[in-house]
Amino acid sequence: MKRRNFLALAAAVPLTAVGAYAFFRDTVRATDFGAKLFIPGAGGPFGVLEPAGVLELTAERGMFPLPGGKTTPFLWYRARQQGADYLNPILKVKTGARLSVRLKNALGEGTIIHWHGLHLPGVMDGHPRDTIGPGGEYRYEFTVANRGGTYWYHTHAHHLTAKQAYSGLASFFIVEDDDELALREALDLQLGVTDLPLVIQDKRLNRAGELVYNPSGMERMMGFLGGTVLANLTPTPFTEIATRIYRFRILNGSNARIYKLAFAKDGRPLPYHVIGTDGGLLDKPYAVTEAFLAPGERLDVLLDAGGLAVGDAVYLRSLAFDPLHAEGMMGGMMGAMMGGMGASLPDGESFDIMKLVVTQRAEAAGRMPARLSRVQPIDLRGATVREVTLEMAHMRWLINGQSYQVDAFPIQVRRNTVEIWEIRNARHSMPHPMHMHGFQFQVLSRQDSPAQVRSLGGHGSGRTASDLGWKDTVLVWPGETVRLAVDFSHDFGDDQVYVFHCHNLEHEDSDMMVNMVVRA
Ligand code: C2O
Ligand code: CU
Ligand code: CU
Repeated sequence: MKRRNFLALAAAVPLTAVGAYAFFRDTVRATDFGAKLFIPGAGGPFGVLEPAGVLELTAERGMFPLPGGKTTPFLWYRARQQGADYLNPILKVKTGARLSVRLKNALGEGTIIHWHGLHLPGVMDGHPRDTIGPGGEYRYEFTVANRGGTYWYHTHAHHLTAKQAYSGLASFFIVEDDDELALREALDLQLGVTDLPLVIQDKRLNRAGELVYNPSGMERMMGFLGGTVLANLTPTPFTEIATRIYRFRILNGSNARIYKLAFAKDGRPLPYHVIGTDGGLLDKPYAVTEAFLAPGERLDVLLDAGGLAVGDAVYLRSLAFDPLHAEGMMGGMMGAMMGGMGASLPDGESFDIMKLVVTQRAEAAGRMPARLSRVQPIDLRGATVREVTLEMAHMRWLINGQSYQVDAFPIQVRRNTVEIWEIRNARHSMPHPMHMHGFQFQVLSRQDSPAQVRSLGGHGSGRTASDLGWKDTVLVWPGETVRLAVDFSHDFGDDQVYVFHCHNLEHEDSDMMVNMVVRA
């Protein structure tokens, strides 16, 4: 453990609570996992809602009781359907469904909903230029064309996304198709029981246990980190499991923190299977022991607890990694400040997120399916190459040398063409989770990756398991070049305007974003 990290840790936790054990070269602080993991139910907060008719979502302020924690000022989307009330409902729809949503803004500041990962016309996508003022309304009418998968929706208010999303304006958007239903049947998975949506977020809590968003100037530039990691808004949760296969649809809903996810038992990694990423199921399960998950990304995984015994405990853990913050910039000052002083839980530190306790034997454990879905590779014939650079200059994060301007349209692509994007991150930079609106893409290769990424890169052309399948967000490390393929086919007519941006939300709000026009 680096000395500065130890000091930060020692300051944050009473010494008696510091118990460490080894996992690889990791040191993890011992935590008392006493709060029951919040699991979404049929209504109420994060209740699963299948929209019928016009769905009214009201963005408003309130006081939210954190499960197992204190009541905190919060922002949420309130909804009501068939007599049931919801806060931040998990929307569940079938591929091909028609959705009709009316957003009402009762926040007292601008807001707009973006449907992260969905293939929609520009005006339905929640572009920041469509931010509506206090008291305003926005009508969405669209068909969900996406494959089955775990998408999400969140605020995209211009220059307010980071604060509003941090304060609560986000939830899941689950799409079902035949492959999805086949998997659920094969493994006897039940949403909310053995198929668990799990959003991981780091928050800063004040003495009263309330969420605080107070980024310093440096944190606005680097990203805002919290010292408490919540799973489904529950601090240090546990959940009871039986000896069978579980599915976790993990969303990194953090503003800036990257996780390196592992399941650990007695300090040793338990293999798990990645079955899906941002845009739905992979062709087959991929066995891993660790995977990076950056803000905005989803990882759909199966954990087979069939070989465990009643009484066993497994931890969902984030492993230590080098956050590669601005190495070399300003003589490493920024990295040092971000890593050690700004946050009580430094970036790249190892910690446990959740405890799984085996309390029951299951009758049938379920068998890992051999096939899941079909992922048709994008046909690259005739594709043109576009270069995209990421760097910092004059204390601003730039995409192709530019910051966001509402009326500038620096990326113009032609409808029904295929492009290969070559995204190159500067060597003296930060990891940037780059996100494209409107279109899912395929990661083709990683080059010049840092060692901690190269070691996970056994999936062809330097790709990691987190890169497989259909993606809308891809993490690009300092010095790295990531190539993606995008098929800009759509049937929306006209020119369509989207954005391409970094999903580190402080980076996004400080304009690490560009307009992207798909010309008809
Ligand atoms: Cu999830 Cu433009 O973002
Ligand atoms: Cu998005
Ligand atoms: Cu960034």
